[in-house]
Amino acid sequence: MKKSLQHNHLDRSKYGLVELPVVEYGGLVWISATSDKPIDIQHYLGAVGDNLVHFGVADHLSFRKSTIVKHTNWKLLIKTYLEGYHVPFLHKNTLANAFRKGVIAHTECGSHIRLAAARTNILDVLSVEREKWRILDYASVYYSIFPNTFFIMHPDYVSLNIFHPEAPNRTVWTHEMFYKPEHFEGDKGQEALARRFEYTNDVVFNDEDFAIAERVQEGLRYGSNKHHTLGLEEGLIGIFQRNIDDALCDKTVVPLKSVCPQ
Ligand SMILES: [Fe+2]
Repeated sequence: MKKSLQHNHLDRSKYGLVELPVVEYGGLVWISATSDKPIDIQHYLGAVGDNLVHFGVADHLSFRKSTIVKHTNWKLLIKTYLEGYHVPFLHKNTLANAFRKGVIAHTECGSHIRLAAARTNILDVLSVEREKWRILDYASVYYSIFPNTFFIMHPDYVSLNIFHPEAPNRTVWTHEMFYKPEHFEGDKGQEALARRFEYTNDVVFNDEDFAIAERVQEGLRYGSNKHHTLGLEEGLIGIFQRNIDDALCDKTVVPLKSVCPQ
C-alpha cells in the first residue's frame, strides 16, 4: 500500500497487512521481508554502503523507472554483468568502444562484489595530479549487491537494477535511473537523460545482454549441457554462484570492510 491517503477508510487489520522494517541509508530505502528482525543495513552492506555514501547517491533524483518481464532465470540476468569477455562481441556497436578490452578490477565485499571497468581514456589519468583523480572519469563502477540487485555508477548517472524471480524461467526486472539535477538542467538536460535511458535500458541491457540470457535459458530447456564451462575471464560468475550456494546452505557471509577499501 504505497499511498495510504487513498485508503482513509480501510480497516487495515482485516487485510493481513504486516508492518515491515524499513530504513533509509546511502540514498536508498531498504525493506526487510522478515517482519520480526530489525534491519542492520550498514552491517549487511559493509563497504558497499560506505561507497554509496561516498558517491553521494542521496544527492540524486529519480529520472525514470521501467518494469519489464524477462523469460529467463534471475541469476542469468545478473551474470551478464559479471564478466567483460562478451563486451567486444555482443556490444560491438555500442559499449565496446567506450571500454578497454578486458581491463576490470574487482573486490569481494562479503557476499557483494564490486567491479571497476576501465574506460578507453584511462591512461589520460597519468597526466592528471593524483589529488584530482575521480574514478568515474576513467572507469564505470558496478556493485552486485547480494542477492538480486545490480547497481552501476556511470560517469554522470546511476542505474539501479533489481531482479525479482517469479519462476525458474521468469523474472521481473526493474531499472531505475538517477541523476544529479545540476548536471542535467532544463529541457536539454531531460532530453539527454531520455537518450541515456533508452540507450542503456532498451539497447544495451534489453536488446543485447538480456536477449542472450533468454536464449541461454531456452537452451537449458533441452538439457544437452549438464554444466556450464567458465573461462578465466568469467571467474566472477563462479564467485556469485558460490555465494548463492553458500546462502542456500545457510552459511553466514559477513561483509568485511577491510577487504573493500574506498
Ligand atoms: Fe553486457
